[in-house]
Amino acid sequence: MTGSLKLVIMSDLHIVPQGEVSNTLDTAARLQAAVDSVNTHHADADLCILAGDLADLGEAAAYTRLRDIIAPLVIESHLMLGNHDDRPVFLDVFGQAHADENGHVQKVIDIKGHRIVLLDSTEPGVVEGVICQTRQDWLQARLDEARDRPVIVIVHHHVLPLAMPVDSIILRDGAGLVDVLRSHPDIRQVIAGHVHITTTGIWHGVPFTTLAGGHYNVSVNLPGHATPQERLEGPGQYAVVLADHDSCVVHFESFLDRHPVIAADNFGRMRADRRL
Ligand SMILES: [Fe+2]
Repeated sequence: MTGSLKLVIMSDLHIVPQGEVSNTLDTAARLQAAVDSVNTHHADADLCILAGDLADLGEAAAYTRLRDIIAPLVIESHLMLGNHDDRPVFLDVFGQAHADENGHVQKVIDIKGHRIVLLDSTEPGVVEGVICQTRQDWLQARLDEARDRPVIVIVHHHVLPLAMPVDSIILRDGAGLVDVLRSHPDIRQVIAGHVHITTTGIWHGVPFTTLAGGHYNVSVNLPGHATPQERLEGPGQYAVVLADHDSCVVHFESFLDRHPVIAADNFGRMRADRRL
């Protein structure tokens, strides 16, 4: 199947100011590799969505660096926030027009028979994801407007519990969000970053996917696992979504394929309120 709609989704870029690294990783170089990969292999895509954790610690210098690195992208890009981001600093650098009337960095994109919903799950001072009543109402209205067409939702935090340690910073009240999503007859995918691992699942009939993103990956760590969870240098990954009137496929493209374990003592600089 060749989808008529093609989306590239990057997540968890964790850009730092010039001269710094994040947990030993040169995240700017990794994003540069991702941009080069997209321009080489997916220049025909309709959009590139950057699904949050754009900056590692939310500094202005990281956002300006991000802006410079993605400037050569040959496809249109749309920015979202994650728990590592700082909304006011982001808006200062990229412009207040990125916020909606309630201050959330979210919007819909109607393209090729689909509605793409970019949903802001960040809440200042909160590590977990939050979809407050205002955002639930906004989402409900955007879904009601598009009952005649398929919808793909992009949100930074994972909604479906994965039975992994990262569930301690999952989206709060995911079941409430699922109730809203189920009101629409044709949710094709709900795609998140945040967890730094690739997963797919279904909850009350709604399909959920996470991508590993551009930063470190975590190893699978399910209840009963004999070894602690490890953080790996790779792969650096983005998702490619192909969708048409009756199907939706999510591919995962590795632009960097390294898997060494990063020693745990390289994670001390993380702020307590911005884990992962
Ligand atoms: Fe992240």
